[in-house]
Amino acid sequence: MSDVTHYEVLIVGGGLAGLRAAVAAHDAGRDVAVLTKVYPIRSHSGAAQGGVNASLGNHPEGGDDSWEKHAFDTIKGSDYLADQPRAEILTREAPERVFEMEHWGAAFSRFPDGRIAQRPFGGAGFPRTCYAADRTGHHLLHTLWEQCMKREIAFLNEWFLTRIVERDGRAAGVVAMHVPSGTVSTLAAQAIVLAGGGYGRVFSKTTNAYINTGSVTAAAYAAGARLEDMEFVQFHPTTLYGTNILISEGVRGEGGLLTNAEEKRFMDRYAPSVMELAPRDIVARAIQTEVDEGRGFDGPHGGYVHLDIRHLGAEVINTRLPGIRQIAMDFAGVDPIEAPIPVQPGQHYSMGGISCDENGRTDLTGLLACGECSCVSVHGSNRLGGNSLLETLVFGKRAGDAAAESAGDTGVHDSVLVSALGEERARIEALTMRGEGVRQIEIRRVMQAGMTEKAGLFRSEAPLAEAVTMLSELKERYRGVAPNDRGSEFNYDLVDTLELGGMLELAGVTATGALARTESRGSHWRIDHAERDDDRWLKHTMARRGADGSPSIDYEDVIITTYELMERKY
Ligand code: FUM
Repeated sequence: MSDVTHYEVLIVGGGLAGLRAAVAAHDAGRDVAVLTKVYPIRSHSGAAQGGVNASLGNHPEGGDDSWEKHAFDTIKGSDYLADQPRAEILTREAPERVFEMEHWGAAFSRFPDGRIAQRPFGGAGFPRTCYAADRTGHHLLHTLWEQCMKREIAFLNEWFLTRIVERDGRAAGVVAMHVPSGTVSTLAAQAIVLAGGGYGRVFSKTTNAYINTGSVTAAAYAAGARLEDMEFVQFHPTTLYGTNILISEGVRGEGGLLTNAEEKRFMDRYAPSVMELAPRDIVARAIQTEVDEGRGFDGPHGGYVHLDIRHLGAEVINTRLPGIRQIAMDFAGVDPIEAPIPVQPGQHYSMGGISCDENGRTDLTGLLACGECSCVSVHGSNRLGGNSLLETLVFGKRAGDAAAESAGDTGVHDSVLVSALGEERARIEALTMRGEGVRQIEIRRVMQAGMTEKAGLFRSEAPLAEAVTMLSELKERYRGVAPNDRGSEFNYDLVDTLELGGMLELAGVTATGALARTESRGSHWRIDHAERDDDRWLKHTMARRGADGSPSIDYEDVIITTYELMERKY
């Protein structure tokens, strides 16, 4: 393909948010294509385990739940950094989006009366997490994929986005590489919805798949979009020791207990009223504190504690947590029916992302974003478990609707796209043929280890400053990067090398924002500024790529409407 191909709405990303946006834009009458780096049902959304939140009130001990209570929990969980009207949209629209998935055939687990089963999750006042055993993301992804297959939605599978083409503040299309053939092409679009997921692979210990490099976020940043609140990185408390595969919060929701090397539960020291069901930031720091203070287990991959579900019994484990049991057996050699699961915190989710409004609109006309790559600002500084799948459904639909509404003549001539295509082909060709140079993996490993050590769970000024310096040095080294593989077909060495450039940019924004923010809020914990400081820091960090390539940081007010600021205690 060498000519410019035209679409009304182009979705970049084939995970839950992208597919939901595609269905919405299609149903609003638009001609839609989804461009995705991996085959859609291999998207990382399929790895989501524990569930999706909605105030259905189905749980027999659930009491009187409501979307307002869900909004309150979300805002408190965010440590008051969420924009409140947006958190209200998330929670108000949750039941409709979940029932829609049910009606489309999602195989939710059920209570005996036939209603969708719900389990408790961290930081939630009610058991409101709807689940499909411990494979909720997998079921939702397949359900949406079926909906896409029913419709005339074009899929460009295994296409890697290399650039968003922008002219005078308007996005007009993309340049992308077809990975199986190596062909680089340009696609014009009247509206583009970015749904490229997170960038967890910037860290060494992460639940994120190898594909989670933030390449779409980096492309938006390079095109001039602002990134918001990137310093807020979620570390999931329970990832499998050794591989950091996710061990769902649903395990604690079902009654799993955390114990230290003294075989004692310890959450009473950190969140006495909710114990293991405190929000993630609190549980992750609690585990790390146990380890750091010598009450954890030691091993070659760092310290860990135990997550014990033996008391639940084989039947509950096999029906509600079958995937967890399999993962623990396959990757840690532990059968949770017989023995506790070794767990440690690991990077899991990015609260920050491409800044956008409640309909996904970014600073660039014609460019929208949804899902983890976006920052609508519903999670603030700490996301509640189960709100991520929900975000994909609520804001995926909204972004798809808004894209359909705003699609129209861009006024940008095809020659602009053709010229961008020429530049990208030349850049990629030069990189492929460079020959001598540093391998991307050498730089990547230094970045990942450095980010985990210096910009991880516990932060302070000196290590963060070192991270910023390290990243600018790595960016310098990256100028001499060279892939080994000079072929054109399935050249993943080249894709990895291209992606690393963007990862360094995103890591730089993360570390710079974290260094500047001299307070502790949610996931951002500064041991040298251990208090939340609303007077100085109740604001969003906004980063734009400066002319010299380093992030230029600015701040914007948080939208506070209904829920008064309080100390966050559990
Ligand atoms: O723990 C989990 O099952 C993850 C859920 C989430 O990130 O929302």
